[in-house]
Amino acid sequence: MEPFAREALPGRVVFGAGAARTALADEVARLGVSRLLLIAAGGGETVARDLAAPLADRIAGTFTGVQPHVPVEVADAARKQAGAIGADAVLSVGGGSATGTAKAVALTTGLPVIAVPTTYAGSEVTPVWGLSDGERKTTGVDLRVLPRLVIYDPELTVSLPGPLSAASGLNAMAHCVDGFWAPGRNPVSALAAGEAIRVLAAALPLVALDGTDLGARGDLLYGAYLAGSAFAVTGSGLHHKICHVLGGRYGLPHAQTHAIMLPYVLAFNAPGAPDAARRITQALAVTGLPGPDPAGSDPRGPDPAAALQQLATRLGLPRGLREIGLREEQIAEAAQLIEPVVPADNPVSADAAALETMLRHAWAGDPATAVPAGAPRSPREQAARGEARREEAAPGQAAREDAVTAGVLASFGGADTARYREVMQSLVRHLHAFAREVRLTEPEWQQGIDFLTRAGHITDDRRQEFILLSDVLGLSMLTVAINAPASAGATESTVVGPFFVTGSPEVPLGGDITGEAKGRPCYVSGAVRGTGGEPVPGARIEVWESDEDGFYDVQYPDGRTGGRGWLRSAPDGGYRFWSVRPAPYPIPDDGPVGALLTAAGRGPMRPAHLHFKVDAPGYRTLITHIFVAGDPYLDRDAVFGVKDSLITDFAEHPPGTAPDGRPLDEPWTSVSFDIVLARLNTAS
Ligand code: BEZ
Ligand code: FE
Repeated sequence: MEPFAREALPGRVVFGAGAARTALADEVARLGVSRLLLIAAGGGETVARDLAAPLADRIAGTFTGVQPHVPVEVADAARKQAGAIGADAVLSVGGGSATGTAKAVALTTGLPVIAVPTTYAGSEVTPVWGLSDGERKTTGVDLRVLPRLVIYDPELTVSLPGPLSAASGLNAMAHCVDGFWAPGRNPVSALAAGEAIRVLAAALPLVALDGTDLGARGDLLYGAYLAGSAFAVTGSGLHHKICHVLGGRYGLPHAQTHAIMLPYVLAFNAPGAPDAARRITQALAVTGLPGPDPAGSDPRGPDPAAALQQLATRLGLPRGLREIGLREEQIAEAAQLIEPVVPADNPVSADAAALETMLRHAWAGDPATAVPAGAPRSPREQAARGEARREEAAPGQAAREDAVTAGVLASFGGADTARYREVMQSLVRHLHAFAREVRLTEPEWQQGIDFLTRAGHITDDRRQEFILLSDVLGLSMLTVAINAPASAGATESTVVGPFFVTGSPEVPLGGDITGEAKGRPCYVSGAVRGTGGEPVPGARIEVWESDEDGFYDVQYPDGRTGGRGWLRSAPDGGYRFWSVRPAPYPIPDDGPVGALLTAAGRGPMRPAHLHFKVDAPGYRTLITHIFVAGDPYLDRDAVFGVKDSLITDFAEHPPGTAPDGRPLDEPWTSVSFDIVLARLNTAS
């Protein structure tokens, strides 16, 4: 048995046809309350008044201003009325909005809630509340809003129209299916969810056939109750995260969105959750819908996603998101918005690309089985993620976190330019996803802030700790990779590093850039060519390097210049100059970045290299290095700058005469390296 945590929720449930008429008065008396605020929604008002008649002496006031999503003004008005009449309990009769309004009153007043649901919303058995303020929705979890008493009376649901009943019932189904991989999943909720799926799947077609079938209505209500109580402890899984974005951002209708998406999410997650898939399949067997092939001859056997989709089709529900108003061009954005809110321990990894594929199928209404199976996370990874997640798995926790992210994302919605908005929203999404994934603690984030503060303090016009940070995190190299796409045949790029400065001395072709740098003389030669093989004359070749002690001249305390300079290539593209042989060196590691490397068990060394920056009209600027073959640090460059094509043989020579006729009375080194430039505006 897997370890699990489960918090049982209190509350009394009375179930039975006619229970609202026959049991409500006694149950209320049992609670010992005598001044009820009756909250009745739209169509439920007459029902509510009838039910309340035997309670007339205990109803101190009636609130009828219920609206969908519980706008804050509505909540305020209901709270005011509760205060004005001195209510000691709230009685809601109606669907999710009536229950939601009663919860809003309880949230601030602590008054007990008695719920008599007339739909299959299930919210009457959860401690989750929600309020809306214009576009913004806030949700939270508070035990005070959990109804003390729920009276389930199937007779009250008979008037709910067939299509609404079907959508609402499938919504309950979604609570169950999603609960199998939601953060607070546990064996007991799985038991309830499995049973609920079975009951719902059997009852839904019957209710669709005959809305007055009280037996089927009772089953449907019972299934919805089980589903709600399971969902109350499991919280939202991948499916609800997706539907929340689709509903919140694109205004898609709640119940239909759930009905459409559920089979696709099931198909996607099933490979990583075989036990859930097996239980769901068993539960759906009651529908007699075998799976991929309704005739039952499909060798793949029963498929729960296909069965769900067939059930929804049979109930006359729309099949594709396009039928309910999602535009095709919104799919990619939706996937981006969903990615950061995917629960960390979802059984398969759901990145934006995978989500987009799923949404495309759901948009078109393809068979759910067409969704490529998600890549299951390893059991170890799932366990680790699940552990972290479970620790914080109070119901509604995820919703609270997502609300923070959604608020910040929205705050950049009015940015000056589309690009700024895109970059900042993406940054926020990924930063928030990071904090969620690692369950960032407050002391840890304080450490992060301290780190950045130290980086700021040590940075001046000679020392740039933030570039170093970007370098050791590989972000500099990633940016290089993104912006200098490999161009067939062209020399590869690498990091510029912090030691490039403008104003280096010009040297003639064959001249010497050594200056004040110490080291073994090194003769560097080669040719500058284009990718077509053509020579590139007059290219501006700028070079800089460390001396034999591993220091750049900008690190000298006395301002001497050495180991840097620039020259132009000859008419035939050739170039040559003298310098010193470069040495491996540590990147500056006496600051916070050095401490970061030490803490990671990483070293600060860079393999010996010579930097080049080459500009020529009509060609893409090249920023690169050549590395000394055989250097011991080639496989552990602190800044990830090494590329195989840039590793070059540096030949060692005894004293003698160099190719350009220079006499040397000491050993010297030579290297030959051809520079190949990509043409501007060519990707390859
Ligand atoms: C460099 O090669 O000069 C360098 C690159 C990244 C960090 C530190 C130094
Ligand atoms: Fe360098």
